[in-house]
Amino acid sequence: MNNATHIAIIMDGNGRWAELQDMKRVKGHEAGANVVREITTYCSNHKDIERLTLYAFSTENWKRPRLEVEFLMKLLERYLKKELPEYLKNNIRFEPIGDLRAFSKSLQKTISDVKEKTTHCDGLVQSLALNYGSQDEILRGVNKIKNCEYDITQEMLSNALDCKHNVDLLIRTGGDHRLSNFLLWQSAYAELFFCDTLFPDFTTNELEKILKKFKKIERRFGGLK
Ligand code: IPE
Ligand code: IPE
Ligand code: MG
Repeated sequence: MNNATHIAIIMDGNGRWAELQDMKRVKGHEAGANVVREITTYCSNHKDIERLTLYAFSTENWKRPRLEVEFLMKLLERYLKKELPEYLKNNIRFEPIGDLRAFSKSLQKTISDVKEKTTHCDGLVQSLALNYGSQDEILRGVNKIKNCEYDITQEMLSNALDCKHNVDLLIRTGGDHRLSNFLLWQSAYAELFFCDTLFPDFTTNELEKILKKFKKIERRFGGLK
């Protein structure tokens, strides 16, 4: 039986969820934020899950209309400020990944405050991927170590990435079957689950069902049974 020690989720389908109900797309992002809270609490209460990495804003999402991007930035700031007591109560460490330099000073400060105030927490690690793109992460990583006098090893590159941990289980909601530049290196041997549920409708029940299926998969990592 496998344990999904590191779960990663591509939280897709917020906009469509809202549009289906004749609401503005941003309402879907708000609803999605509530699901983030529920899933995070669920994972923090699950003894086998150590890490939950959630794709919240990609390096490509800046292409969206200015108002949607601005809304997402405000939502993120509001979310983090409101969640800090919950992180502390549930012993959750917050570790953002992505290139945070693109964000406003005020948002950067909120992100680093929550990170610092939860560094002592030793329960679940919740990573939000913010201005994150796997290709950008790998490039930044390579540039950090390129002047090393030896050949770069797999371990060196792994350690130079924002997310240094292999993914066990990768879930994408919203019906599309692609990775959209998320954790490409870390998902080399991840089990992939794609579900049609739009993220605001994703429940801990559905996650539990996926975890049950995951447990039964035979993971061979290139070897034999
Ligand atoms: C995912 O939902 C959230 C972000 C990318 C910020 P979308 O906003 O992509 O929702 P759809 O895919 O358009 O429905
Ligand atoms: C992936 O969703 C990014 C996040 C969930 C943050 P997108 O909606 O941006 O991905 P594409 O454009 O459908 O590939
Ligand atoms: Mg989408």
